[in-house]
Amino acid sequence: MITRRQFLLAMTSLAASMPSRAQPAAPVHRLVAAPARAALVGDAAPPTTVWAYDGSVPGPALRVRRGDEVDIVVENRLPADTSVHWHGVRVPFEMDGVPPLTQRPIGPGETFRYRFRAKDAGTFWYHPHLRSFEQVDRGLAGAFVVEEESPPEVDRDVLWVLDDWRLGRDGAIEENFGHPMDVSHAGRLGNTATLNGRVAEAFELRSGERLRLRLVNAANARIFGLEFEAHRPLVIAYDGQPVEPHAIERVVLAPAQRVDLVLDATAAPGTRHAVVDRFYANQQYRLLDLVYGEERLRPAPPAEAPRLRPNDLPEPDLAAARRLRVELGGGMMDPKRRMHGARVWTMNDVSALGHEHPRLGALTLGESCVLELVNDTVWPHPMHLHGHAFRVLTSRYREWRDTVLLMPGERAELAFVADNPGEWAFHCHILEHQLGGMTATIRVG
Ligand code: C2O
Ligand code: CU
Ligand code: CU
Repeated sequence: MITRRQFLLAMTSLAASMPSRAQPAAPVHRLVAAPARAALVGDAAPPTTVWAYDGSVPGPALRVRRGDEVDIVVENRLPADTSVHWHGVRVPFEMDGVPPLTQRPIGPGETFRYRFRAKDAGTFWYHPHLRSFEQVDRGLAGAFVVEEESPPEVDRDVLWVLDDWRLGRDGAIEENFGHPMDVSHAGRLGNTATLNGRVAEAFELRSGERLRLRLVNAANARIFGLEFEAHRPLVIAYDGQPVEPHAIERVVLAPAQRVDLVLDATAAPGTRHAVVDRFYANQQYRLLDLVYGEERLRPAPPAEAPRLRPNDLPEPDLAAARRLRVELGGGMMDPKRRMHGARVWTMNDVSALGHEHPRLGALTLGESCVLELVNDTVWPHPMHLHGHAFRVLTSRYREWRDTVLLMPGERAELAFVADNPGEWAFHCHILEHQLGGMTATIRVG
């Protein structure tokens, strides 16, 4: 005899395994932005006063399924205006969270309701888009995960939200946000790296285990270059978008970028292996140790590399594409010395001030575009386009991304179909560079 309760359970698990087109609307989530305290450096030091979503740093990992209708009410209990931007998620313009372009700021005590459909599966994130050099730094950031209809088989799906803080001896955040020195150089690099809001020591795993690691760089300026001692992680997605799986020696993750890795636990039980950040010369440090338990999960991880199904991104028509060229300029040690006042950085010789957004170009709806980027500075710049994902034509795997890192002197070609109407922000995601003028728009439609 099947009881009614068992029957209901059977129904729900059946429904969950059925590929359905019309997903039921996800329940409304209320996301509260407010000051909070966080034990960033553990219990040894006093907690740090931060700004947090739902009281935690990073904010809650919001998980939905591909195709879900997302419905989130953001409540502002901060002493400042704010907004929430869904980084990498292809949302309609009014939902992009970029004051004053897409909405009015959410004032203290006010709410704003964000509603959009999660078109792409992948690892994304959310953060304010108003004085972000201060608000993201104070802790406002969280992961936004859109699950595939049929996720690849792994033993654990783990999120690593990386961040970087500038803390004083008392554990408090040094409040010199937007300091001219940081604006004109590498951005606000901190002195304390955290993983999921804590200085990490160890990450436990078992021999034979297969993990999916979703890395998110929520730092203002720090670029991570992680090396996994004795391991060879396999990249399966960049910025949420699936890529031809490939092994890499160093996982380079610029601000706002994400990477999905398959990490196979191939080392012996009872061993330890460091994960070291070697991005900046002479400044390497150990992020944490991979610590193996005494028990094996299985003799070895599965041999087959898992593959993700690509999202439905429109393929740009390269022959017919409109070409836009954008030159990045400025900064300290600028050979052309174009610096003037707070306008330190330029895009095609124009520097934005405050919440100005100079327009770099206009595309007609549905048009293909090849965006040529030239970094004419001696600093790295992770460049981010809103509302679209682009193919990086100049990279080996021609991967889709929403944020591309250009090293000093580097050039890149990005291609996309301008299929989402709006006046889309396009800026450097080193938030002090954005503040110093490296922000503009590209109009679509
Ligand atoms: Cu992650 Cu314009 O932002
Ligand atoms: Cu964005
Ligand atoms: Cu930059």
